[in-house]
Formats: sequence, C-alpha cells, structure tokens
Amino acid sequence: MEMGTILKTLQDPMGIPFYPVVFQALMVLTFALHIMFVNFTLGTSFLSVYGYLKGGENWTRLSRSLAKATTVNISMAMLLGVAPLLFVQVVYDPFWYASNTLSAAWVMGFIFIMMLGYSLTYVFYLKRDHKTGGGFAIFGIIAFALFLLSGIIMHALGYQLLQPEKWLNWYIKGNTVDTSGTSLHAFQLPRFLHFIIPSFAMTGIFLMLYAWYFKNRADFDKGYLEWVGKTGAKMAFIFTAIQAVVGFWWLFSLPAGFSFFTNPFFLIGAALGIVLLVFLYNAQKDPVKYAVPGVLGAFLTIFGMSYAREALRMKYLGRFDYSIFNYKLNIDWGSTALFLSTFVMGLLIIGYLLAVAYKSGRTSGEYVATPSMNKWGKISIALLLCWIGIVAGLGIIISVRNYL
Ligand code: HEM
Repeated sequence: MEMGTILKTLQDPMGIPFYPVVFQALMVLTFALHIMFVNFTLGTSFLSVYGYLKGGENWTRLSRSLAKATTVNISMAMLLGVAPLLFVQVVYDPFWYASNTLSAAWVMGFIFIMMLGYSLTYVFYLKRDHKTGGGFAIFGIIAFALFLLSGIIMHALGYQLLQPEKWLNWYIKGNTVDTSGTSLHAFQLPRFLHFIIPSFAMTGIFLMLYAWYFKNRADFDKGYLEWVGKTGAKMAFIFTAIQAVVGFWWLFSLPAGFSFFTNPFFLIGAALGIVLLVFLYNAQKDPVKYAVPGVLGAFLTIFGMSYAREALRMKYLGRFDYSIFNYKLNIDWGSTALFLSTFVMGLLIIGYLLAVAYKSGRTSGEYVATPSMNKWGKISIALLLCWIGIVAGLGIIISVRNYL
C-alpha cells in the first residue's frame, strides 16, 4: 500500500470534533509556552549549579534564587507540555503514535526521568545549604542532565514523526522485527540545539526580569540587582546571536526541495529574531527598563518560530499528501464549548494565582490583598466549584445513559 494511503488509514475514523485550524493554532501557542518554560528550566537549573560551584556573595545568592525558580519553571514546563501533547495527538495521530511506538520504552521511561529530575531539583534546592564547598552540586547536575535527556527524547519523537518513509527500516532489524522500542532512531543536532540554546538567552532575560521585579524591595541590595541585570542582558544578547547562527545551520540542513528559506512563516520568525537581537543589544545600557518588553518580544519570537516549526512539519508531511486540513470533520459543539469554556476559566484562575504571587513577592513585609483581589479570588473558587459540578455531572449522566 502506498504511504499516503497508510497514513490516512491510521487516522481516527471518527474524525476530529472541531476545525483543524483551531487545534493547530492552539497547539502552536501552547508549544511556544511549553518551550519557553523548558528554556527557563534548563537555563535556571544550569545557572543555579554554576553559581553554587563558583561561590562568592552574588553568585551564591543568585544561585539560591535560581534553584527555587527551577522548581517552578519545571512545573510550568510540564503543565504546558500536556496541552500540545493532546493537540498533536488529535491532528497528527498517525505520526505521533507510530513514532511513540517505535521508541515505546523511552516514552514510558520519560515519565520516570521527569519524576527523578523533578525530585533531584528539590533535593538540590532544599539541602544545598547543609554542606559548603559545592557538596550538593551533584544533585543539580544530575537533574540538569535528566532534563536534557527529556529534551533529547522529545526531539527524537518529534523528528521520527516527520519521516514515515524510514519507519519500516527502523522497525525491522535484519530478518527480525524489533518490538522492543528501546531505540531512539533519529536525531538532528541543529534542530535540537535550536530549542536548547535559547535556554541561556531566555534565562538572561529571566535575570533582567529578576532585577526589575525586586528593584523596589528594601531587602534587596541595589549593587546586587544591578549585577544580576547586567549579567542577564549580556547572556541574553550573546546567546540570541549564537541562536541566530544555529537557526541558519538548521535552515541549510533541511532538504533543498523544501525551499524553506522562502517560507513566509520562517521569514516572519527570522525577522522577529533579528529585531530581538537589536533590542537586546540596546538593553545592555539599562536592563531593568528593557526587561518587560524584552520577555514579551522574546515570547513573540518564540511564537513566530513555533509557527515556522509547524509550517516545516507541513512541508515534511506534505510529501505524502498529508494535510491536517483534510481531516474528516465531525463537529461536536458540546465538547468544544466545554473545552473552550474550561480554557477561558483556566486563564482566569491561573491569572489570579499569578497576580497573588506577583503582588506578594513585590512587598517586603506581609502581603495584604486589596478588596478587588479578594473578589477575584472568590470568583475563581466559585468558577472552579461550578466546573467540577458540571464535569462530574456530565460524566455521571453520560455513564448512566450508556448503561441504560
Ligand atoms: C525538562 C523537560 C522537557 C524538555 C527539555 C523538553 C524539550 C522539548 C523540545 C526540545 C521539544 C521540541 C522537539 C523538536 O521539535 O525537535 C519538545 C516538544 C514537545 N514536548 Fe517537551 N520537553 C520537556 C518536557 C515535556 C513534558 C513533561 C511534556 C508533556 C507533558 C512535553 C511535551 C512535549 C510535546 C507534546 C512536544 C511536541 C509538540 C509537537 O510536536 O508539536 N515535554 N519538548
């Protein structure tokens, strides 16, 4: 059977419950958020160990803050990884599942690798002050290595997915069928680095934000914050420049037939990257002033690049006449409405949690919530209770109906 037909046969016969372009846009958006927090995780985890080993007043203090930040960043990266995971399974199911099955042992191992990395991050953060002289660095180093390994696994799954013409060769070894799932079959260094190098640029921007965020706190020394801001701005600029070079390396390693350098998504992404580089160059003068527009600009660039990544996937899979826009449509308004309202409600509730964290961190003493914050909190709790009631109620009604 021809590959295009095989891929069509592997699609969900029920079709998809809403327009694919909506799933695609949400997949790209949530992937951009996921990869931004992956970058923060890798960067803060690396720098926290570096600062711990380097020692000195500034580095030790920054290292402690970054170790704590890593625990939050990794939680966000995991949380925001689930959304693109669900979307990719909806629109690219034949590819995602085939790629996952080919490396099934790694897919299952991924969960344990994440759990171990997450736990070691906490050991490093909580126990590091118990021993001087870098005694606990090993926990931070292993956690960083495990996060990097998680990235390698995700990259391999995402890259294997793009090459259905090789699946059979990976599945058959000599005269036997390899069902072990213990191999990762594909790795493309420039593509991988394109997602990893920004960790250091983004962490540079993270440090600029740190200097901006704590600037009004009496318990933060001005000299220390200035040092953090300047170090961050320098890191952000240097690694964005390296990233641009890696981007071109990736571009030139793509199949020539794709002519990807003329792709409008790529051109927009690249233009955003160049503007960001110029912006970061100017930020060296006053990192605090540039911190907030810096993170917004960086996210916009990541979002543009994530769209370019999706456009590239469409090029790869277009070779087999596969397009998510031809997926059988079986519109289901009920589940779509529930999904979208959950999404909006989630934003409202997460917005509240972030606002509390933001406001409380900016005050030196005890944080007292304003009446409008209290109202927002109450609305969030009420929404959550309603949502639990609706989802549990629907579950019960549908189960009973199916049973009768
Ligand atoms: C620190 C841990 C992690 C790292 C370093 C990491 C890194 C990456 C990288 C580099 C990619 C892009 C690969 C490529 O396109 O070549 C990626 C994609 C992806 N990651 Fe993560 N990831 C991590 C954790 C997670 C977790 C916990 C989840 C799920 C809960 C997840 C879900 C995804 C998904 C679904 C994609 C592919 C989306 C798509 O193909 O559109 N990741 N990740």
